[in-house]
Amino acid sequence: MKLVAGNSNIALAEAIAAYLSIPLSKCVVRRFADMEIFVEIQENVRGEDVFVMQSTSFPANDHLMETLIIIDALRRSSARRITAVIPYFGYARQDRKPGPRTPISAKLVANLITEAGADRVMTVDLHAGQIQGFFDIPTDNLFAAPAMIRDIKEKYKGRKTMVVSPDVGGVVRARGLAKRIGAPLAIVDKRRERAGESEVMNIIGDVEGSSCIMVDDIVDSGGTLCNAAEALLAKGATDVSAYITHGVLSGGAVARITASKLKELVVTDSIQATEAVRVSNNIRVLSIAPLIGEAIGRTAREESVSSLFH
Ligand code: R5P
Repeated sequence: MKLVAGNSNIALAEAIAAYLSIPLSKCVVRRFADMEIFVEIQENVRGEDVFVMQSTSFPANDHLMETLIIIDALRRSSARRITAVIPYFGYARQDRKPGPRTPISAKLVANLITEAGADRVMTVDLHAGQIQGFFDIPTDNLFAAPAMIRDIKEKYKGRKTMVVSPDVGGVVRARGLAKRIGAPLAIVDKRRERAGESEVMNIIGDVEGSSCIMVDDIVDSGGTLCNAAEALLAKGATDVSAYITHGVLSGGAVARITASKLKELVVTDSIQATEAVRVSNNIRVLSIAPLIGEAIGRTAREESVSSLFH
């Protein structure tokens, strides 16, 4: 098997390579003067089981295009099987038509990845599980929950905790985690008046005297989490933290979170942490390299991946 990394998250790719005890394959991604992307795989991949690692995070379009071009290069180099390992699958929030004459961009991206030549896809905490159905090739949706649960059990031992879904859309995910750590569930009934803005309306559940742990798939502007933290504290929560799989953290999100009442935000390394994240005093990164490494190893050996989560 071979591991090929795009440029979006070299640190994670290296950690996965270390977990699997194999080197990253030599792959050079260059730019023409007009910013076109050019890729050269600098070692033989004929007949190989190749895993391409790339999160389609900021700048999303560049990283997506890079992914497609790497897959194309591998296909034309006679790789036996190509698995696109996309820990953070960008465009996933565009998984339905929000209004007339709008696209379903998540489906378009799925088509592009398939058409480029991927035989399989591996991703983590898809925004909506049914996006797997946008692909007609095998798609493994891994869960960061086991890593989060281990961390929560260690940090919150003996404390009165409550798992909170910061919006109604995340209830299934939060309920699953609450069940596994044996904590009750509360829900923030958020109403978003305009795109990019969020407003907390109501807390469903009694959070008074509890350490609240919010769980979600994405933190982008940070608005959802910061507003929810204020609402939970106003209802008597002792402290509020958040475990979020994908730290998109666009624009001023890190500053917003640093200045917020959130005790801690824990994100995984599905998206490479920026310098601002690294120096922030209330953001911590939890690595999912062992999880992805194990899933890649099992895929290569044709072993069960779902049993990782039993
Ligand atoms: C929404 O459905 C997602 O699960 C997140 O809640 C959302 O993307 C967070 O966005 P922001 O951090 O910009 O409020």
